[in-house]
Amino acid sequence: MTDVELRNMVSKTLTCRIDKRENCAEKMDQFLKRCFYHSGQYDSPENFVELDKKLKQHEGGRVSNRLFYLSIPPNIFIDAVRCASSSASSGNGWTRVIVEKPFGRDSESSAALTKSLKQYLDEDQIFRIDHYLGKELVENLSVLRFSNLIFEPLWSRQYIRNVQLIFSEDFGTEGRGGYFDNYGIIRDIMQNHLLQILALFAMETPVSLDAEDIRNEKVKVLRSMRPLTLDDVVIGQYKSHTKGGITYPAYTDDKTVPKDSLTPTFAAAALFIDNARWDGVPFLMKAGKALHNKRAEIRVQFRHVPGNLYNRIIGTDLDLATNELVIRVQPDEAIYLKINNKVPGLGMRLDRSNLNLHYAARYSKEIPDAYERLLLDAIEGERRLFIRSDELEAAWALFTPLLKELEEKKTIPEYYPYGSRGPVGAHYLAARYNVRWGDLTVDQ
Ligand code: BG6
Repeated sequence: MTDVELRNMVSKTLTCRIDKRENCAEKMDQFLKRCFYHSGQYDSPENFVELDKKLKQHEGGRVSNRLFYLSIPPNIFIDAVRCASSSASSGNGWTRVIVEKPFGRDSESSAALTKSLKQYLDEDQIFRIDHYLGKELVENLSVLRFSNLIFEPLWSRQYIRNVQLIFSEDFGTEGRGGYFDNYGIIRDIMQNHLLQILALFAMETPVSLDAEDIRNEKVKVLRSMRPLTLDDVVIGQYKSHTKGGITYPAYTDDKTVPKDSLTPTFAAAALFIDNARWDGVPFLMKAGKALHNKRAEIRVQFRHVPGNLYNRIIGTDLDLATNELVIRVQPDEAIYLKINNKVPGLGMRLDRSNLNLHYAARYSKEIPDAYERLLLDAIEGERRLFIRSDELEAAWALFTPLLKELEEKKTIPEYYPYGSRGPVGAHYLAARYNVRWGDLTVDQ
């Protein structure tokens, strides 16, 4: 690619949408002029020396920082880091590296990756992205909890019956089967995105908002969790389904996926944090591809009101009996709390309504994309939203025994039709803990 070709490509998606400055076109032009394409091999120190030379020309002797963003397959991470660090580090400023998951496949491979990275970089040069941490409503979790008196006192086993972390996509792995088949939904979504949200949700109050204070609390949660076993998990894989004359493919129809693949495209799991705050509270996770909708949300179901005066009216209506706080991470960001109220009128009928903070109605400003926030943070050296190596280690320690067992036993996933709500096993799993998935009702 030439520089011009690269600039054309970048300009197709470049906008001034977040920071609507004047002279947008001019600003974009200035930015594009600074974009250059340099081709080379990831494992060639000579090529990185050339890159270094080229960068120096542009830097013109000024203090200059370098940020390498490795959006590349994991098997070439280390080569690229070795060459970048030895041959293309900044001479007078900082050098940082952003790495994208997967950070290994299990505890051992992740530890090996960390060890190799640390041969060439210090921990504070490494920025491990989990882009869910950059999502607006995930960032807002701590604000909600720690700056509102009404939530924090309720945030424990005393008042919370269960917490649900739900991720669903209404498309399959189309085109990404090669990557996905080696990882599966547990490694792709649960071990990182959902677990990170859980840690933020469940952590104790950090000493301050500093990155290390927050990450210290998150890692404590992860280390207090019970490693998962097969009993706590249901796995599924989507099969072909015809609807409205259109046939949607099975996971194994993907040309890059082996026909006999047992890789889960859906999983539901029950997790427990064995500490004083959360003892006995099920944290249920559910993640799947090719389901009926695209959504990511946190659902907090509170305990029933003891000795409820209105029990006779509520009867067996579980919805009325349960206050639920929903944090809809995407799409259409919202935070709403389901409460009971009296239907206006002379009689006494109860209704369930939502106290709703609907972002689109409340704010006209567009919400930044997770990556916009995270890249800016990496440039500014803000580490709060990046994963520290001990967090990663604790996250893998939780999931590795389960993943090994699933693979050794060649556990067969429960098949579910493309576009459905996923395998029925997820409901039995929840029922075992006396939980009903909150996303069953048309929502709300
Ligand atoms: C990625 C996963 O980390 O997150 C993908 O590898 C998934 O499988 C994606 O589709 C979802 O991200 P988002 O921001 O579109 O919800």
